[in-house]
Parts: sequence; structure tokens; C-alpha cells
Amino acid sequence: MDRPEDSGRLRVLISEAQIVQRVEELAARIDAEAPPDADFVVVGVLKGGVFFFTDLVKRLKTPVRIDFFQTSSYGSGKSAGEIRIKRDIELSIRGKDVLLVEDIVDTGWTLRTILDLFRFRGARSVRLCALLDKHEARETEVPIDYCGFRIGKEFVVGYGLDFNERYRNLPYIAVVEDGHA
Ligand code: IMP
Ligand code: MG
Repeated sequence: MDRPEDSGRLRVLISEAQIVQRVEELAARIDAEAPPDADFVVVGVLKGGVFFFTDLVKRLKTPVRIDFFQTSSYGSGKSAGEIRIKRDIELSIRGKDVLLVEDIVDTGWTLRTILDLFRFRGARSVRLCALLDKHEARETEVPIDYCGFRIGKEFVVGYGLDFNERYRNLPYIAVVEDGHA
């Protein structure tokens, strides 16, 4: 057996049922708080946010357009706060209500960069929906309008999140027990 969940290296932190319930609650709140003239562009941040994005968008009753954005850090990257754009959105967001959907906010540099860029481009509003908030790791302030779960500093995988591109397809969020160096 070579599946990670059989080897005892993963500990479930947030179950599939918990995720499903929370996604429903978040979608209901986003709908409830959408202005009557909302012109939504929901932007999924690849790759980690993709499962959360599709589950969430399917639950929304407010009409939306969808698009995707992908970033990476320069080198080890974390401290510099320099974020490279790997894939830009295709749609114009001028005058639109952007809802950014991301897997996890860690240092905050990725979302800080995207939020600033989208505001600069003339979006009417830019709001952030993140499944996970690793609050203690924050280096730059990022307002999370819709947050799924607040977690500790542990490295997590599953439901889109990876460790060296593995574990993304787990239907739950798990902690990697034996480190990830
Ligand atoms: P930030 O720019 O430091 O906020 O980093 C955000 C990105 O780092 C996320 O979109 C993830 O791709 C990645 N990341 C941060 N923490 C974790 C984790 O615990 N597991 C997997 N990826 C993570
Ligand atoms: Mg990511």
C-alpha cells in the first residue's frame, strides 16, 4: 500500500463533511451580501484553490463570470514578498466586483499582490474568500472577507493543497506528520 493515508504520515485536520458544510455556509453568505447590481468575476487562484473554487461557485446563486490566476514565488521567495505572475486573467475587471478564491493565506504576500493589482486595474470591489487562514504566519496584512477555517502553522495538504505536487486530490485537509523539509 503506497497511498499516503495508509502509511500513517497524514493526520486528518478537517474532514470532507466539514468542508462541504463550510462551503455551503460561505456561498450562502456571499449571496446574501452581494449588492443587487453585483457584477461578479470570481477568480480562482491556481492550482491550490481549484477544488474549493469549483465547489463554491456551484453553490452560488448570484450570476458570475469565472477566471483563473496563477502565481509563484521567486526562488525560495517567502521573505522577499516578490510574487511572479504565471497566468493572468483573461477577463476585464474594470468596474466589476471581483471575488478572489484561494486555498490558504500564509504569509499573505500572494494575496496582497493580487489584491493590489486588481484594485489598480479598476475593479469596483475586490473581496477575498480563503478556505484556510494560517493567521500566525502572516507577514503582511490581508483582509479575508470570507474565511473557511483558521488553522495553526502546520503544513497542510489535500483538497487542492500540495506537498511537492502530491496529495492535491485528497477530499479532506490533512497535516503532514513527518515534516516536509
Ligand atoms: P503566501 O503568499 O505565503 O500567503 O502563500 C500562499 C501560498 O503558499 C498558498 O497559495 C499555497 O500554495 C502555499 N502554502 C502556504 N501554506 C501551505 C500549506 O500548509 N500547504 C500547502 N501549501 C501552502
Ligand atoms: Mg496557492
